[in-house]
Amino acid sequence: MSTKAITVDCGLEWQALQRHVLSDSQRHLRDRFRDDADRAVRMNVEAAGWYLDYSKQRADPQTVVLLVALAGACELNKRIDALFQGARVNTTEDRPALHSALRARAGECVEVEGHDVVPEVHAVLERMSVFATSIREGSWLGHTGRPIRNVVSIGIGGSDLGPVMASEALRAYSQRDLVIRHVSNVDGADLREALRDLEAAETLFIVCSKTFTTQETLANARAARTWCLEALRDEDAIARHFVAVSTNASAVGEFGIDTRNMFGFWDWVGGRYSLGSAIGLSTMIAIGPAHFAQMLAGFHAMDTHFRSAPFERNLPVLMGLLSIWNNNFLGAETLAVLPYSHYLKRFPAYLQQLAMESNGKSVTRGGGQVGVQTAPIYWGEPGTNGQHSFYQLLHQGTRLVPCDFIGFCQPLESAADQHDLLMANMFAQSEALAFGKSVGELEQDGVDPALIPHRRFDGNRPSNTLLSDRLTPHSLGALVSMYEHSVFVQACVWDINPFDQWGVELGKALALRVFDAIAATAGPPTALDASTGSLVVRYLQRRDAVRATTKLIKPVR
Ligand code: F6P
Repeated sequence: MSTKAITVDCGLEWQALQRHVLSDSQRHLRDRFRDDADRAVRMNVEAAGWYLDYSKQRADPQTVVLLVALAGACELNKRIDALFQGARVNTTEDRPALHSALRARAGECVEVEGHDVVPEVHAVLERMSVFATSIREGSWLGHTGRPIRNVVSIGIGGSDLGPVMASEALRAYSQRDLVIRHVSNVDGADLREALRDLEAAETLFIVCSKTFTTQETLANARAARTWCLEALRDEDAIARHFVAVSTNASAVGEFGIDTRNMFGFWDWVGGRYSLGSAIGLSTMIAIGPAHFAQMLAGFHAMDTHFRSAPFERNLPVLMGLLSIWNNNFLGAETLAVLPYSHYLKRFPAYLQQLAMESNGKSVTRGGGQVGVQTAPIYWGEPGTNGQHSFYQLLHQGTRLVPCDFIGFCQPLESAADQHDLLMANMFAQSEALAFGKSVGELEQDGVDPALIPHRRFDGNRPSNTLLSDRLTPHSLGALVSMYEHSVFVQACVWDINPFDQWGVELGKALALRVFDAIAATAGPPTALDASTGSLVVRYLQRRDAVRATTKLIKPVR
């Protein structure tokens, strides 16, 4: 697939890269470093508190020149301007994708259809700050007069993954006497486990849903409401224990949440780009408005860099283009995201939605087929845990898996000795991937010849290393913004719309049909295909048989 002609208007530049890959791609990283003593000094870039070393990519400065030419031919400049200027870049939903306006400074002007949206953005941020402060200070009282100690945010996808990731990442900055939990899965176990040790009188629910029509979120919100009312026995309690974050005020009202307790955002904010909006309310409650503002400042710093830096020194542009190189020219199918920070343990999951819901497309903006592979599969785990799990495949497997290593120069907690060990592991992994261990080196080490094939590391496996001074709200915001824009850069090269997600719709519609079939009392489901129908029949038979013969596990408190 990666060798097919691209359908977008940058064929010549694409072909130049195809020729380049034939002549260059097999050159070993050992040789690249041997032949260019300045490689590590030249192949790095710094922006908004992040340093990227891309010298361990299977690319040379000439590769970057060709990739930048490709970006130019794809009119990336114009596309970036359109993005930031509020053009309707989300063509299939006919709206802008102005997440950058969420982090614009007060006084800046960002217009949507001639209307400056920055004052409204800051008005919502101000309301969020007042509310978050009242929870943190204990002045927002529950229905029985007790302060809120527990916050349960209910949402899914973009209305969950960002806040979950950020709340975990910034745990060291959070007010530790507040319990912050996130519930997303329609499996009732998720809510049950979140609530099992909480008291309703001290619990606030934040129902986050851009559309306020998402099945999972509404099912969980209804169950939470029932749980709350069973304990507090008064409908009026809902006003003190439920707030909503949505763009759909009428649905919020219909659900029974007072719209005065609603924090709004706008249809020009995509779900997976919404962490900086009111969707981040649980994060703001956890870390406080000042830290939240620092996170937005980090986003903004990277936004500004992305908008203004020349492509060859532009961190998100280089990240996006190097991903294109690995994916479309070196044939890599996936990208491993390996944060060497336990606080970033949910970062790979967050990136999965950002990258794969955005760029998991096969149709161009104009409706034609994209002739090349689009989004690689993003996955990962924090180091060093992953080293004792799947790194074997990264080092000696048959697949090429480019890696993004992410680390910090200073730890947050006092365990500096362990931090050096952590970072030593991170640097060593990228070194091992790049340079491997040759037969000659193994022979020199006196390794048993029979074991040499097993102990040989080919190396030449590409990686980026992203380093920042410290994990702070600012550095997290900048990191997220960097990946957002690198995803956009890739979309521009493939000429796809990264801001819609039609691919999730069919499953949602079919789930409703299957649910109707399960709920129907009479006969086997006829509307379903033979396989799905027989699975439903089997499910119903066994469900009822098991229900009749076994007792439910009694929850242990
Ligand atoms: O999974 C599809 C999706 O539409 C995501 O794009 C979105 O983030 C998520 O569902 C949740 O949607 P909502 O915020 O409207 O509940």
